[in-house]
Amino acid sequence: MRFIITGTAGFIGFHLARRLIADGHFVAGVDGMTSYYDVTLKRARHALLGRTNAFREHIFMLEDFESLQRVAAEEEPDVIIHLAAQAGVRYSLENPRAYVDANLVGTFNVMEVARTLEVGHFLLASTSSVYGANVHMPFREVERTDHPLTLYAATKKATEDMAHSYAHLWKIPTTAFRFFTVYGPWGRPDMALFKFVKATLAGEPIDVYGQGKMQRDFTYVDDLVESIVRLVKCAPVEGQPVSEINSLSPAAPYRVVNIGGGQPVGLLDYVDAVEKCLGMPVKKRFLDMQKGDVPATFACADLLEQLVAYKPTTPIDVGVRNFVDWYRSYYQV
Ligand SMILES: NC(=O)c1ccc[n+]([C@@H]2O[C@H](COP(=O)([O-])OP(=O)(O)OC[C@H]3O[C@@H](n4cnc5c(N)ncnc54)[C@H](O)[C@@H]3O)[C@@H](O)[C@H]2O)c1
Repeated sequence: MRFIITGTAGFIGFHLARRLIADGHFVAGVDGMTSYYDVTLKRARHALLGRTNAFREHIFMLEDFESLQRVAAEEEPDVIIHLAAQAGVRYSLENPRAYVDANLVGTFNVMEVARTLEVGHFLLASTSSVYGANVHMPFREVERTDHPLTLYAATKKATEDMAHSYAHLWKIPTTAFRFFTVYGPWGRPDMALFKFVKATLAGEPIDVYGQGKMQRDFTYVDDLVESIVRLVKCAPVEGQPVSEINSLSPAAPYRVVNIGGGQPVGLLDYVDAVEKCLGMPVKKRFLDMQKGDVPATFACADLLEQLVAYKPTTPIDVGVRNFVDWYRSYYQV
């Protein structure tokens, strides 16, 4: 199959593209190489992908609709997977406009292209952050998500709704994934694991928010990619729910799916795993929760399992070990 994936220089897009290429598919990767974090890491990811003719890179911002249209017409994808976004909960307090530009305008442009190309399946990344102030655990796709706590979450919720309207109007089979704290090799420098390992190797303390009492449903990146690859083949069909817990829209070939293992881990257990893998003590600076943070995330993975007979299971110690091994070899520390 031919794929357009947006965000291929990013953490998840890189892993997904690599896997699809290994499976024999062609991937056209679109990425604006934003300076949100170290661009050399993004370039290194693309350089690895570019070792084969089954990958072609296109560097531009999604807000540039003309370039997007041109690339879409050239590449003629069967499927579009839209991962590019301004990610990160905390940065949305510092630079909210980046979220409006990338997540709202950028996603709208990708949807327009999906409409004109009449792709067989449009898949886009949303986040567990849309569950916002919900306290009922585990988070289920059929629950209301009316109380986002950050602009990041609000823009992601908006993209889910925008995609629903296009699925209804133009009959585009659409899957919106809600990811839960993804981690692994080639991970993002703004995320906890990267920061913990970097600081500890430099002999510096790490910031532990929420006094260490927060919990996250961490998802190892290979498990996430396996879930996505399986979901690609599972395009929603209007009027054909797969089970009682289905989040299929009553008005469109559209569904939301959590991708998480449903096994939340305490932040301090995550830090312990880092300590064990590095073989050195982690110095901790305990701080209160940051504005917009939620105390816990916990995915209900029942729908994912029913759809694709799979759910993330990689234990934290294995995933953290793989990250640490990658980090030490990539940065030579
Ligand atoms: N990593 C996680 O834990 C997590 C959790 C929930 C949701 N998500 C979502 O998954 C997706 C991928 O996340 P990631 O962790 O790989 O992030 P990432 O920041 O590593 O990757 C995103 C990529 O998109 C590109 N990009 C950003 N804005 C762009 C724009 N306007 N035009 C073109 N390219 C642009 C960036 O250059 C980057 O390479 C995002 O939509 C994110 O919101 C991630």
